[in-house]
Amino acid sequence: MDRKTCLITGASSGIGESLARLLIKDRWFVVGIARRTEKLEKLKEELGSNFLPITCDVSKSENIKNSSDFLKKQNIIPNLFFLNAGCGEIEDKFHTNIHRKTFETNYFGVINRIEEWIHHNSLATFAVISSLVAMHATPHASAYCASKAALKSCFQSLKSNILTVAQSLSP
Ligand SMILES: NC(=O)c1ccc[n+]([C@@H]2O[C@H](COP(=O)([O-])OP(=O)(O)OC[C@H]3O[C@@H](n4cnc5c(N)ncnc54)[C@H](OP(=O)(O)O)[C@@H]3O)[C@@H](O)[C@H]2O)c1
Repeated sequence: MDRKTCLITGASSGIGESLARLLIKDRWFVVGIARRTEKLEKLKEELGSNFLPITCDVSKSENIKNSSDFLKKQNIIPNLFFLNAGCGEIEDKFHTNIHRKTFETNYFGVINRIEEWIHHNSLATFAVISSLVAMHATPHASAYCASKAALKSCFQSLKSNILTVAQSLSP
């Protein structure tokens, strides 16, 4: 498969949507992932056949597995994973559930996707979006700041693991 393919999570708005537009202009095939089907379908109308919308909640590991299996069955193997979907909320009061919910999307939503693909395409690039708050936490956002710091720290460590996996799989 010659065409360059990018899987973008959080493609229904903001940074993910903008990147989808840019890549398609640059002749990439883009798999756009988000929960809001209607936003993705509208984008499909605009971007055409090089945009494949998939409704998926990245906070649910079975959704990640199903969407990954679907792509593998179609032999759609992304070269680039732009794992951008993220959420955060202002915390009026401290609650563990806010942390769990935020981590399920911002942290495990990324980690689960990598697990699905890392051994399937050893040459793929995985890009994630952390935040400045990973370095300088802001008030009333402890869950969001912690999730972005965890992501940053995980990738700093994982970078060397991923290189090792890729090297050990190369001929
Ligand atoms: N904008 C900034 O200044 C800034 C700064 C630092 C970091 N970031 C990070 O950059 C990323 C994109 O931010 P943005 O500003 O473009 O925000 P945005 O416009 O709110 O976009 C967030 C995207 O994530 C998707 N999303 C959220 N939860 C999801 C879930 N459970 N499953 C699947 N998709 C989900 C949303 O789609 P649906 O609602 O349709 O699911 C949406 O497409 C985030 O990770 C954010 O934390 C942004």
